[in-house]
Amino acid sequence: MRTGSGQAGDPAAAGQQAGPTLSSPSATTRLVAWQGDLAGWLDRLGWLRTLSDRLTAVLGPVRERHQDNLVLELLHGGRWVGHPLHPALSDLPIGLWAGVMVLDATDRDPAPRRGIDAAGMLSAAGIIAAGATALTGLNDWTVSNDQDRRVGLFHGLLNTAALGLQGASLGTRVAGHRGTARALGAASFAVTAAAGYLGGHLVFTKGVMVSRVAWAIEPRRWTRALQEADLPDDSPTAVVAEGRQIMLYRHRGSLYAIDNICSHAGGLLSRGPVADLTVTCPLHGSRFALADGCVSRGPASQPQPVLPTRIRNGWIEVRGSQPAPRRPAKGRTQP
Ligand code: FES
Repeated sequence: MRTGSGQAGDPAAAGQQAGPTLSSPSATTRLVAWQGDLAGWLDRLGWLRTLSDRLTAVLGPVRERHQDNLVLELLHGGRWVGHPLHPALSDLPIGLWAGVMVLDATDRDPAPRRGIDAAGMLSAAGIIAAGATALTGLNDWTVSNDQDRRVGLFHGLLNTAALGLQGASLGTRVAGHRGTARALGAASFAVTAAAGYLGGHLVFTKGVMVSRVAWAIEPRRWTRALQEADLPDDSPTAVVAEGRQIMLYRHRGSLYAIDNICSHAGGLLSRGPVADLTVTCPLHGSRFALADGCVSRGPASQPQPVLPTRIRNGWIEVRGSQPAPRRPAKGRTQP
């Protein structure tokens, strides 16, 4: 059995400088950091920025005009679904087009056939599903920010290319050119996979359309947030209690405390207007009831956490949703 050190030919043991290998830190670091490099590279593409800005200039005002449209909210998933719709729908074209590849790979009949076969049916169903998925993706894109918006646009362009390739594949399949149809279908699936990877980057690395307050549980004990005298009536006020950003609001003697970070994409609610005890996020217009955090308008699909409050010795105190267990009184043992 070989041991790890002092072997003949081991550069470290022989006092030699080892060249860059897979096990050297720089090569390993490069290997695991390529996704971040890819996102950064995409973000620096001048044409992508220009296209993103132009699309934003066109779609932004349209979105603002139709902010109350329930169809737009439903395309996000919205408060009724409770989840974003786009990631769920995107499974359909991927699955259906994967089925096309399997059927093509297992089809042993070399005779040219015109018309639509089982693989063609799956291809067509995937194209319809891809259209619906694109609609929800475009809708989500209009409420994304900064780098996420550029990467999201590239993701959409790749998906559009995949859709075009799949359409060409279906056309040639129906015309009886099955070899060409298979090649185009495989190319479409490869581009779809690349687009899916970028979609995964947006969700799992950047947290796009993921609740920004999913882990907000602090503070675990009653904590002073603000002196009562410093809270004006009917004016959203931002405070921090044990690192948690909270918006305080007082109306006719009633006190409200709600997480200040919008669950949709992190907008600061204290910078938005309050009307009828409902706060509007200044970033993309989600609305939350101050009393219970319920969403009354998307794109947010998750309620905003509210915190219990109390007043002690002239201070407004708040507490999170998972209070620490009570300390046993001195001298008393736990049962
Ligand atoms: S951050 Fe998008 S609605 Fe609040």
